[in-house]
Amino acid sequence: MRRPIIAGNWKMNNTIAATKALLTDLIPLVKDAEAEVVVCVPYTDIATAGEMIKGTNIKLGAENVHWAEKGAFTGEISADMLKELDVEYVIIGHSERRQYFGETDETVNMRVKAALAKGLKPIICVGETLEEREGGIVEKVLVRQVEGAFKDIDKSELENIVIAYEPVWAIGTGKTATAQDANDTIAIIRNTMAKLYCEKCAEEKVRIQYGGSMNPKNASELMAMEQIDGGLIGGASLKAVDFSQVVKYNK
Ligand code: 13P
Repeated sequence: MRRPIIAGNWKMNNTIAATKALLTDLIPLVKDAEAEVVVCVPYTDIATAGEMIKGTNIKLGAENVHWAEKGAFTGEISADMLKELDVEYVIIGHSERRQYFGETDETVNMRVKAALAKGLKPIICVGETLEEREGGIVEKVLVRQVEGAFKDIDKSELENIVIAYEPVWAIGTGKTATAQDANDTIAIIRNTMAKLYCEKCAEEKVRIQYGGSMNPKNASELMAMEQIDGGLIGGASLKAVDFSQVVKYNK
């Protein structure tokens, strides 16, 4: 019903040479994966990665997109520019963007709309900080982020959107949410989507990934949980063998 989707988020890693080396190793390792496989790569690697994965089962993603069609936005990249390079997915609202680059629920929503308008599929990141978790406001934070991201987004777009639940305290720290915790928190997100849209849409159409120190060791336990439809993988996506083992969590 909800096809698993495992995406790598390379973040600010991999030159073109490193991209070639990584994908050369990765392509044969994941070719018979059952899950949908995506690599979200830095802008400068998109053309190279796109050429290399043509005709394979790996799909191409970017790590951000601007909300304007074009214009005076030095350093930014538009949805048309990504589409021209056959990008299919785009990460929006990653916690690192929220933390270091002033991303807000409102700009996330603007980017989501711009991406959808051009036929890009957003991977919308949400997640609480350690402070928010310890303060007991996880649900409040997630509801705010989800409502903000999906403002004025039509129900018909839900199958083109993936949500990634990434608890900020689990990113790059080696700390993973327990599978049960991740499952319960993702249930809050799905419930919020049910309220915003409908129960059936949230159940059938909305794919929600877990992200945060997901690796070959914990992938199968996380993926066995009812609410978890995939993973957004940082560190472990930079090594072909590790990423392929996450992608083939059930093998
Ligand atoms: P790590 O897998 O390195 O913790 O990163 C997770 C992440 O931020 C993916 O977007």
